[in-house]
Amino acid sequence: MTRAFKSDRPIPAPMQGKRIAVLGAGNMGTALLRGVLAAKWGRAKNCIATNPGTRKLDALKKELGVQTTKDNRKATAQADVVILAVKPQILDNVLEEIAPAATADKLFVSIAAGATTTHIEELLGAVPVVRSMPNVAVTVREGATAICPGTHAKRVHLDLSRTLFEAVGRVVEVPENLMDAVTGLSGTGPMYIFQIIEGLSDAGVKVGLSRAVASTLAIQTVVGAGRMAQDSGIHPGQLKDLVTSPGGTAITALHSLERNRLRAILMDAVEAATDRSAELGAIHHPKAEKRLPERERVA
Ligand SMILES: NC(=O)c1ccc[n+]([C@@H]2O[C@H](COP(=O)([O-])OP(=O)(O)OC[C@H]3O[C@@H](n4cnc5c(N)ncnc54)[C@H](OP(=O)(O)O)[C@@H]3O)[C@@H](O)[C@H]2O)c1
Repeated sequence: MTRAFKSDRPIPAPMQGKRIAVLGAGNMGTALLRGVLAAKWGRAKNCIATNPGTRKLDALKKELGVQTTKDNRKATAQADVVILAVKPQILDNVLEEIAPAATADKLFVSIAAGATTTHIEELLGAVPVVRSMPNVAVTVREGATAICPGTHAKRVHLDLSRTLFEAVGRVVEVPENLMDAVTGLSGTGPMYIFQIIEGLSDAGVKVGLSRAVASTLAIQTVVGAGRMAQDSGIHPGQLKDLVTSPGGTAITALHSLERNRLRAILMDAVEAATDRSAELGAIHHPKAEKRLPERERVA
């Protein structure tokens, strides 16, 4: 399932020679580093990762050959692109720590959920900031990431950020007021699909398949249907029509899904996650403007 990259793929112009710092090399930060290096869109000698723990840093140095330090300010000072990958609760401490090294010739890419570009600019000053919302599938380089620019980010900064996240999946650009919606849909999205896989697998067992067989079939069905929707570009409703023959199994199953409101359940879940994202943004970043009413106005 992991996307393959040709090893001789040229480094895209926006990434050429860029020094990248990942502040908070945890799950997401490390996945980004791995992706950029696997795609050969960055060089290990130009990357530096930070973390409070020596063990994690030593492991990263061994695996990827990147530089490591516990010092966020030092890493920021020597980078062109600084990826803010710490948890939202400690983002402000890190921003305060690196502020003296934050200059306008650097790009700051935040993946911290809920932290607005305005908030980051307040703590770093007039520097280019791009806010992103990736999802956990960046760990297998099949991530879905949305990006939006801060006040001082220009086209070149968005292009650089897009290139960075394209090393680990697909990228869209959205206005910042839609970042909670992105969180509700694709940020939270892998969980919906895990539930669907588990449900299909349980269903397979219910109709007599072994757990192993049911699980293999359920996972591959999700991967295959996703790949068809992506590669064909055909509307999912049309794909559904293609596989529902008169009086057949698919239309019978569809009737059951409709009776049980599958699509309404998904819409409720995405809406609830979107609203929760706005609430958490306000809790972790109290100065961040609350975007929920704005979304409702748009609707
Ligand atoms: N996971 C997701 O699906 C997802 C999706 C979208 C966005 N995000 C965002 O991605 C960010 C990281 O999430 P994650 O899941 O990767 O969390 P994580 O695995 O906990 O990574 C955060 C890393 O930051 C380190 N850290 C803590 N304090 C630090 C400091 N002062 N300086 C430098 N590093 C520090 C942590 O080290 P210790 O473990 O040693 O404390 C940890 O390795 C969060 O802001 C989250 O909102 C996550």
